Amino acid sequence: MAAVNLGSTGLGIGSARRRGQFHALAVSQVRPLTAESVEVTFAVPDALQDAFDYVAGQHLALRATIDGHEMRRSYSICRPPSAGSISVAIKRDLGGRFSSWANSELQAGDRIDVMSPQGTFISAIEQLDGAHVVGIAAGSGITPMMALAHEVLSRSETSTFSLLFSNRSTLDVMFIEELADLKDRYPARLALHHVLSREQRAAPLMSGRIDQERLERILAELIRPDSVDEWFLCGPFELVQLCREVLTGAGVDPAHVRFELFTTGRPVDAGGDRGRPVQVEAGQDTWTLDFTLDGQSSQVESPISARESILNAALRVRADVPFACAGGVCGTCRAKVVSGSVNMTENYALEPDEIERGYVLTCQSHPKTDTVVVDYDV
Ligand SMILES: Cc1cc2nc3c(=O)[nH]c(=O)nc-3n(C[C@H](O)[C@H](O)[C@H](O)COP(=O)(O)OP(=O)(O)OC[C@H]3O[C@@H](n4cnc5c(N)ncnc54)[C@H](O)[C@@H]3O)c2cc1C
Ligand code: FES
Repeated sequence: MAAVNLGSTGLGIGSARRRGQFHALAVSQVRPLTAESVEVTFAVPDALQDAFDYVAGQHLALRATIDGHEMRRSYSICRPPSAGSISVAIKRDLGGRFSSWANSELQAGDRIDVMSPQGTFISAIEQLDGAHVVGIAAGSGITPMMALAHEVLSRSETSTFSLLFSNRSTLDVMFIEELADLKDRYPARLALHHVLSREQRAAPLMSGRIDQERLERILAELIRPDSVDEWFLCGPFELVQLCREVLTGAGVDPAHVRFELFTTGRPVDAGGDRGRPVQVEAGQDTWTLDFTLDGQSSQVESPISARESILNAALRVRADVPFACAGGVCGTCRAKVVSGSVNMTENYALEPDEIERGYVLTCQSHPKTDTVVVDYDV
């Protein structure tokens, strides 16, 4: 097995966490992947190369005004790092505002705001020689796996990557040709296992939904957990939870299992750059937020009755406070609590060691003390 050190990354830049900042980038290509998904490529000018340096597995937040509403959504980067461009893949979510717009309206030549790459869904393997990395993805969850698989396979001549990829039918498989090309390039080191829920495959094990029984059989027959150094899981909440439970049951150390959620299933409205409006009236009981962002300190009073998050309070005085999902999944709004304390309701983005060091998701945090001081810069 390869050396695993969860404190660092084997695939690129040392610090995967940086504070997100938007830059306007031009779309250089919109390429259909399936009837319901597109790959969107942005041109990255020389002056912004450092800002858009990334590690395979990270994601970008995009910001656009659609039907008069500012919207931010995160999309995983689907190609290994290369200078001059950066690409994401966007699957149309039925009734989804941003993804529908991106699939039907976005065109080459358009300019939209793109945040510098974020996220810790990245490999912690220091020495990839001999490493076996496994990705389990469903639907658009393939996007970060494309970058990860390329990186794992290209950075060592003895690494292997196994991909278990679940879709409804062949027509829904994003990157089907690119995966076949990758297999041609690394025939002995890439194992591709397509599972189709609504299409019959030659092997009965590969036909149907991934449930506990099927996954246990796949682990017994195709991907033996004791051969694996690191696991990446990306898909719907229920699938990711199921995989985590089955892997734990199979004796896999949770420290070697990384997962990324695209949504918790609950729609959230962050209220755009200014947050949800809150009126502060004389005589109201308030709490105070002090925060540092880009070296500049700001303060805001918040009525206790408004029950607003740290993020919302901060946005009311600074439009550049970083956030994307407002739902506890992307990690963009991370800050360190310097004094005071908060309650964090949801967290699908921070690692346990970050929480121990005092980091919180400000979109999910509410004050427990009269004054809370947070730092977005550390
Ligand atoms: C870290 C991260 C990485 C991601 N990477 C990718 C990726 O690579 N590719 C990808 O395609 N997606 C990715 N996503 C998901 C993406 O950010 C969006 O969540 C997704 O595109 C849906 O956005 P939307 O605006 O189209 O849908 P929204 O308008 O936000 O709606 C989402 C869903 O909720 C439903 N809905 C909306 N409003 C309501 C309501 N009032 N009541 C009930 N239901 C409602 C919609 O029908 C839809 O199904 C990622 C997310 C995160 C956090
Ligand atoms: S904005 Fe995504 S976790 Fe807070």
